[in-house]
Amino acid sequence: MNNAEWLARSRAAVWHPCTQMKLHETLPLVPIARGEGAWLFDFDGRRYLDAVSSWWVNLFGHANPRIGAALTAQLSQLEHVILAGFTHRSVVELSERLAALAPRGLGHAFYGSDGASAVEIALKMAFHYWRNEGRPEKTGFVSLAGSYHGETLGALAVTDVPLFRDAYAPLLKRNAIVPSPDARTARPGESARDVAERAAQALEAHLALHHATTAALIVEPLVQGACGMAMHDPHYLGRARDIAARHDVLLIADEIMTGFGRTGTLFACEQAGIAPDLLCLSKGITGGYLPLSCVLATDAVYAAFYADDPARGFLHSHSYTGNALACRAALAVLDIFRDDGVIAANRERSVRWTALAAPLAAHPRVKQFRQRGMIWAFEVDTPRADFARWCFAEGLQRELLLRPLGHTVYFMPPYVVTDDEFALLAARTLEIVERA
Ligand SMILES: Cc1ncc(COP(=O)(O)O)c(C=O)c1O
Repeated sequence: MNNAEWLARSRAAVWHPCTQMKLHETLPLVPIARGEGAWLFDFDGRRYLDAVSSWWVNLFGHANPRIGAALTAQLSQLEHVILAGFTHRSVVELSERLAALAPRGLGHAFYGSDGASAVEIALKMAFHYWRNEGRPEKTGFVSLAGSYHGETLGALAVTDVPLFRDAYAPLLKRNAIVPSPDARTARPGESARDVAERAAQALEAHLALHHATTAALIVEPLVQGACGMAMHDPHYLGRARDIAARHDVLLIADEIMTGFGRTGTLFACEQAGIAPDLLCLSKGITGGYLPLSCVLATDAVYAAFYADDPARGFLHSHSYTGNALACRAALAVLDIFRDDGVIAANRERSVRWTALAAPLAAHPRVKQFRQRGMIWAFEVDTPRADFARWCFAEGLQRELLLRPLGHTVYFMPPYVVTDDEFALLAARTLEIVERA
């Protein structure tokens, strides 16, 4: 079977995510036969450098032998068991290790599957926490302008991306949106820290008025991904932590994208020295192998549910909660972080790769070039209204999987990319920018 046959069958039988399917009348799907390291190979022998880590999930390359071996071992022991009333080794070990690695005090792990299910869990937990504390009127949530937390109805209700949200607006609970600390919005003379402080003051003003009816503030720490890799100063997180605590509002850190080293530390919250009340994790947690998400909660949150009355408990579940294979993949990922000193190695990689991207950063069409940890992003100054789609197609012709967000091009490759591969990515992207 070649590409043409697979894409025809896929178009007929698969409803692809986040896609206007009619688009594929003119823009062909890319059928992938196999992956190896940072490369994906199609059925006609072409290859593509996965510069977006397959929707930000892959950390250590496709077909990683160490994660594969861990999964093979788990497969011969236990694939899955109901997690209500039962437990198993991989979920226990993973929960203990996440608690030890995460910011202090987050010792209780509740599992879901995708990122959005973690957000649903965190929102329900925050509301139910206050209900159990005798404050049922705290039902509202606050999120940042441009925030993205997923596509299910609860997560979409704290998401501020009109393209995803507007069609479903009548179904969504109304929540508050406060200004983003996005450093790109700096006024003349303002530093990134000044923008963060200005946004923190807006948050404080909002909560001063609405704290009595607000359950939680949810933030994407340091980098707001889907709205265009908007980066902010850690100062905002420190201020948000303090303001939320003073107003009896829980802080939910959505590290679904930023977790597992993407921003340079294992978790982005570390760079502000803060611990949220609830921490949402997914994507890189299994190295991109299996769907798994997790909400880590503090003792205080956990204690509010611990009672004789079943209705005070958190009666939320998914069939695949704590899936043994997914947990084992996550343990293999944590082993790689530990054994290979990944965070320290990434610090050096990010310096080298930023230098390799210097010609791109200096190009006159490139604006707001920015980098944090293992994420690089910039705006392309172009009159093309169809830039994102055009750039995606141009990337494919140059063996690159790029997926711009509007006019924002970003690199978020697996950490196993070599210097030569990153140089190729930067040079070929520069060719595209020149033609934009
Ligand atoms: C910050 C953040 N939260 C939540 C989600 C939703 O995760 P999922 O697509 O796995 O449901 C995403 C996905 O991109 C995300 O970036």
